[in-house]
Amino acid sequence: KQIRHGFREDFLWGGATAANQLEGAWDQDGRGPSTDDVLTGGTATEPRYLTYCGSNGVTGKISMTDLHDLPDGASFAVLPDVWYPNHEGIDFYHHYKEDIALFAEMGFKAYRMSVAWSRIFPNGDELTPNEKGLAFYDAVFDECRKQGIEPIVTISHYEMPLGLVNKWGAWRDRRTIDCYLRYAEVLFRRYKGKVKYWITFNEINSMNVTGWLGAGVTSCDPTVMLPAAHYQLVASAKAVKLAHEIDPENKLGCMVAISQAVVYPADCNPANVHKAWERAQKCYFFTDVQARGYYPSYQLCRYEREGIKIDLTEQDKADLSRGTVDFISFSYYRSTTVSIDPNAPWVAPDSPLKETLGVKNPYLKATDWGWAIDPMGLRIALDQVYDRYQKPILIAENGLGAIDTRQPDGSVNDDYRIDYLKKHIEAMKDAVVHDGVDLMGFTMWGPIDLISASTGEMRKRYGFIYVDKLDNDTGTLKRSRKKSFYWYKKVIESNGEVL
Ligand code: BG6
Repeated sequence: KQIRHGFREDFLWGGATAANQLEGAWDQDGRGPSTDDVLTGGTATEPRYLTYCGSNGVTGKISMTDLHDLPDGASFAVLPDVWYPNHEGIDFYHHYKEDIALFAEMGFKAYRMSVAWSRIFPNGDELTPNEKGLAFYDAVFDECRKQGIEPIVTISHYEMPLGLVNKWGAWRDRRTIDCYLRYAEVLFRRYKGKVKYWITFNEINSMNVTGWLGAGVTSCDPTVMLPAAHYQLVASAKAVKLAHEIDPENKLGCMVAISQAVVYPADCNPANVHKAWERAQKCYFFTDVQARGYYPSYQLCRYEREGIKIDLTEQDKADLSRGTVDFISFSYYRSTTVSIDPNAPWVAPDSPLKETLGVKNPYLKATDWGWAIDPMGLRIALDQVYDRYQKPILIAENGLGAIDTRQPDGSVNDDYRIDYLKKHIEAMKDAVVHDGVDLMGFTMWGPIDLISASTGEMRKRYGFIYVDKLDNDTGTLKRSRKKSFYWYKKVIESNGEVL
């Protein structure tokens, strides 16, 4: 370990996206429907809904943040006359060359992206993959390599084949582990030599909030979500081992939404301090298992106390211990503040995610979606995670979702986005230079505008690249550079010295 005066020479500057939020072409070239294809659009105050059809033909919808099982005989389905924002995304499927060229123009060293599972296995339980889906990602990786960009690939980012949901409840069933491993093995073998960095699951701790996005589970109840999360943890560990066997050059990472672990007590009341710690543990438990290879005692105690029954076999224990990750990655957007006072004001009282977003922090401003802006929280996250695991860290996501206004000439002066990112990069530099954190890279979220995961909106824009698409499903899909595009180019050129 050496003392650093800045970011390392091979720092992975870049951006991150997810297949379901930008590819579109949801039913082309053999792709099967995924969990995102039945999600409607929401807003900051209106949840996204999942649509279904009953055996009698009667249709219905349920909220993604207030889930329950479907009526008997019903299954999730794409309904006519409903608008599903992910179906078109920003049509990266047909624009990937242009988009990767724009990333290269900014000087990207890395592009974190995901593969759409249902492009490779349309229903999830086939034995042979869909060649056209594989060929698409060959083309994307080749394009990245041509432009000198290292792909960092998330195997499962907030989606999975809808077939597995309708068949046996997705990750509620142990059989999904085998389907995931068959899929992962196909990726490891096909893209050997093209892809070296892999992330097994995006924000695996989203299973503390909703079972749907990450796991196709129709519940927000921990007694249902956490047993399903156990199967994901086993699948992740087995995938890590397999990837190392197939190519010892492979580097495997876990990924959590660390905003759920940067938790502040509303004041110095020890009861609030403890509440903050309990909340953070709900996030750390996932990385504890993935980085250390076993369940931490606090989590096992919680399961016993709360009657949460996980199907933890002796074989699972062995698999978990053999499949620890090489690096830790996380997303960081905001911190969370908690209070034992039931009357403490929520930071976003009208949001379907109000409990996740926590109570107001008088020291922090929040975005239009109630996400507390807190650059120091990123330094805290880096320090805590590095101290806990002593493994290299990748900041896999960080960015500002904001409403952009286009000037009459089409330009976007997004100084607020530059300000947000500048302060967060300064904080991460402090973590590297002052605190000695081993940071591998920074892939900001949403270098190009795309569909929001939590709300399904386009107007919640993160990009350096503007995409002409609106929430009323109009727009030319034309790409253009925002002011932040030129700013980020300089940041990368100077390896983070010019901010
Ligand atoms: C993370 C996800 O939660 O944050 C992304 O990994 C998501 O998929 C991003 O898009 C930003 O969240 P949102 O809800 O603003 O899109």
